[in-house]
Amino acid sequence: MSTVAEADIAHLFHPYTNLERHPETGPLVITHGKGVRVYDEAGKDYIEGLAGLWCTALGWGEERLAEVAAEQMRTLPFYHLFTSKAHQPGVRLAEALAALAPVPDAKVFLACSGSEANDTAIKMIWYRNNALGRPAKKKIIARERAYHGVTVATASLTGLPVNQRSFDLPIAGILHTGCPHYWRYGEKGETEEQFAARRAEELEKLILAEGPDTVAAFFAEPVMGAGGVIVPPAGYFEKIQAVLKKHDVLLVADEVITGFGRTGTMFGSETFGLKPDMMTVAKGLSSGYLPISALIVAGHVYEPIKAEAGRIGVFGHGLTYGGHPVPAAVALETLKIYAERDILGHVRKVAPALQDGLRALQQHPLVGEARGLGLIGAVELVADKDARTPFDPKLAVGAKVVAKAQANGLILRAMGDAVALAPPLIVSEGEIVEILSRFRAALDEAHGELEAAGVLGE
Ligand SMILES: Cc1ncc(COP(=O)(O)O)c(C=O)c1O
Repeated sequence: MSTVAEADIAHLFHPYTNLERHPETGPLVITHGKGVRVYDEAGKDYIEGLAGLWCTALGWGEERLAEVAAEQMRTLPFYHLFTSKAHQPGVRLAEALAALAPVPDAKVFLACSGSEANDTAIKMIWYRNNALGRPAKKKIIARERAYHGVTVATASLTGLPVNQRSFDLPIAGILHTGCPHYWRYGEKGETEEQFAARRAEELEKLILAEGPDTVAAFFAEPVMGAGGVIVPPAGYFEKIQAVLKKHDVLLVADEVITGFGRTGTMFGSETFGLKPDMMTVAKGLSSGYLPISALIVAGHVYEPIKAEAGRIGVFGHGLTYGGHPVPAAVALETLKIYAERDILGHVRKVAPALQDGLRALQQHPLVGEARGLGLIGAVELVADKDARTPFDPKLAVGAKVVAKAQANGLILRAMGDAVALAPPLIVSEGEIVEILSRFRAALDEAHGELEAAGVLGE
């Protein structure tokens, strides 16, 4: 029989992987996990510095979630929500999310992934504007470096070249406005507030150039994740929302990463004062234990959709596994655990250790900027600290640091030369110290190699 690694190379088509190089590097096969750690086939342990894919908030080995899943499997392993059917976990989850989310008169649509929730949001926006008799108001604006998923429509919203290049994307009707990264795009002498105002003006110019009666919605992650963990500058969302309101453009908050405590409040929208018309959540909703997502829509968004479905005879959209009872039961239990263990209080308590430690890395010769809040952050690696000159992408310095971290027992993720950190929310202060020390070791080793190769400036 082949080993797992051999079978992987022979048959598994990996997502987000250099497929050409994969047969040489082979897979890292993870067998189990406990708390913030996962273990490979050889028994080596790694701290999961990104909570898997920003999702495993409660860490590995949470027995209560396993129990609830097993129990739900026995009672009702499948039922759906089509044609007025319902089941208790789906309904109770919708009720719980409507109560938690800062979305007025909320209705909750359940799906299986962040991409599906955002894709559904796009379809609902189009459907609603047809219902309101304004069929031209359909364009959607996202931001450069945004990440909203990988379906045809959501990869079009995503503002990262790898998600579009050679995929024949973006589709028509999707527009991008500037990224709110002050350190990278702020001009000399410009304050954060002035930069935020400039980004809001650019957005308004774009809306006016396209025609406000053609622009339907604006998508935003409160903190951009896969684009490199970009925290918005002071005043940004206040200014952006004033523009959206003026031109009757809906705000969709993509809380797939920031939902359920990551930034120290239940939703990033609360941290940054967003008043979304629609909100998407996934990942932390079930602590990543089972695939589930939700689109939470305000009453004023729902009402015209309801009326249109009445005219047509059915709302012609739904996913076989959307709101599946097993992930729904696990999500409900996850929300219960967050409340019982005061996960928000814990995040606020330990976040300074992570953020202060990250800021201390700012002194490292490879680090141009250390940024973040709550339990999410990143360092941006640069060839020249003062000039903020990026490395030649061919050097793949971010990937090098991630490989060094992995050898030191810390799993991180590089987005270009931004290296991200978003540990499980249950991480302790002691574990944060370990994470930061492994991270620093990886930076030192990568620095040593780059220096020896003569690719660093003076
Ligand atoms: C902000 C955000 N939106 C949407 C998605 C897409 O979610 P999924 O991978 O579950 O489709 C992600 C995934 O990382 C994300 O970070």
